[in-house]
Amino acid sequence: MSVLPIRTLPDPVLRQKSKRVKTIDGSILKLIENMLETVRAAPGRAGLAAPQVGVPLRVIVIDIPGAENVVLINPEIVKRSGERPVTEGCLSVPGYYGEIKRAESVTAKGRDASGKEIRIKAEELLAQALEHEIDHLNGILYLDHLESQDKLYKVEDEVPQL
Ligand code: NI
Repeated sequence: MSVLPIRTLPDPVLRQKSKRVKTIDGSILKLIENMLETVRAAPGRAGLAAPQVGVPLRVIVIDIPGAENVVLINPEIVKRSGERPVTEGCLSVPGYYGEIKRAESVTAKGRDASGKEIRIKAEELLAQALEHEIDHLNGILYLDHLESQDKLYKVEDEVPQL
């Protein structure tokens, strides 16, 4: 396993639409292991999407301290409800955080590393991370959700880096 370098803006891979994974083979399993290692090594981290390590494939990992890891291949949000203001940062946009709106709860589906179809109903940080990481697969960054540039701040306090 290895810690992979994280791509940051303006790397164009962050704006690409990632491709679906057709077969969960050894290279995908290795990617997942390396992504988990990378997210664990990053300060204040909560999740990572494959394009952030330069791989435009639809794979995300979420590692929220005190909760079980989430690995989702070809994830999709199937339901969103409510809206709440959140503070959000991104490992690919170092030095900044912003205030945006996210859903209060989301349901996501996808496959786990063994290929089994799973469905996750989430609230709070896990819901925020699912929306954030799945956005990455579509080339969307939290910056795109800012209502105005006044809602973007330089990092002073520790905020979740998704
Ligand atoms: Ni991010």
